[in-house]
Amino acid sequence: MHTETTIAGVLNRLNAARARGARVGLVPTMGNLHRGHLALVDRAREVADYVVASIFVNPLQFGPNEDFERYPRTLQQDREKLESSRVDLLFAPPLDEVYPKPLARTTRVMVPELSDVLCGVSRPGHFVGVATVVNMLFNLVQPEVAVFGQKDYQQLLVIRRMVEDLHLPVQVLSAPTLREPSGLAMSSRNAYLSEEQRQRASGLYRTLCWARDRIRDGETDYETLEQQAASRLGKAGCRVEYFAIRRSGDLGLPDDRNGPIVLLAAAWFGETRLIDNVAVEGPD
Ligand code: PAJ
Repeated sequence: MHTETTIAGVLNRLNAARARGARVGLVPTMGNLHRGHLALVDRAREVADYVVASIFVNPLQFGPNEDFERYPRTLQQDREKLESSRVDLLFAPPLDEVYPKPLARTTRVMVPELSDVLCGVSRPGHFVGVATVVNMLFNLVQPEVAVFGQKDYQQLLVIRRMVEDLHLPVQVLSAPTLREPSGLAMSSRNAYLSEEQRQRASGLYRTLCWARDRIRDGETDYETLEQQAASRLGKAGCRVEYFAIRRSGDLGLPDDRNGPIVLLAAAWFGETRLIDNVAVEGPD
């Protein structure tokens, strides 16, 4: 595996790979890698001959009071994991390589509507930050295919919509959420949890599954179900930010009971905000 910290270095490596006729796959991350991230790399390897992973903690997607400063940075361990997963190129740029100008003067990409609901309500500007940096990575790497996790379901839809609206020549694939044995979705932010919070946090997935099973059993009063689920989740000892039952395609309210549905939740365990989701259709 090669590691590059500059855009020029990445472009050189990519030119060489492309000269050999390689199909390029990209897996963007913010590092502190766990098996969920590595599953995305495995998926990319299945469909590309040259896999690029990026590690960049993107300040543009963090709010002023969020965890940008304390976000776990573990580059050495991450490099070893990516090496074992047979990544070809790691792009791990410093801040000023990606944003040479002050952030306030940097061009942004905004995906309307999808960015303004659910996580977008409590994290204004977050998806602008995500879309901007992912668009930048797509422009630099020009991958044939890029892989994102279903764990961040709203992010996945925002990126798909950006690709569609801007006619970007990249195929966006998604990979399922990897979980701890307790059901807790793997996340870099789990590192913030105490042992007790970690146990309580598995209630997020349990409650999503409980509500999903109610729908599978024929429940159609989604509003009441959202309230019941939020109150169950709250009893697990967290502050519920939202518990939402939405259309899978665009996160709209499911007025038609026949289309595909996703259940999404965000909750605070102490100072740590976790998100998770499950689909009504699909695997458990
Ligand atoms: P990060 O949180 O590091 O996640 C990188 C990728 O890993 C995302 O596509 C995310 O959905 C996926 N992922 C995270 N946890 C997962 C799990 N338990 N199972 C499967 N996939 C999982 O998401 C970001 O970084 C950033 O917003 C980024 C897209 C890199 C832009 O900065």
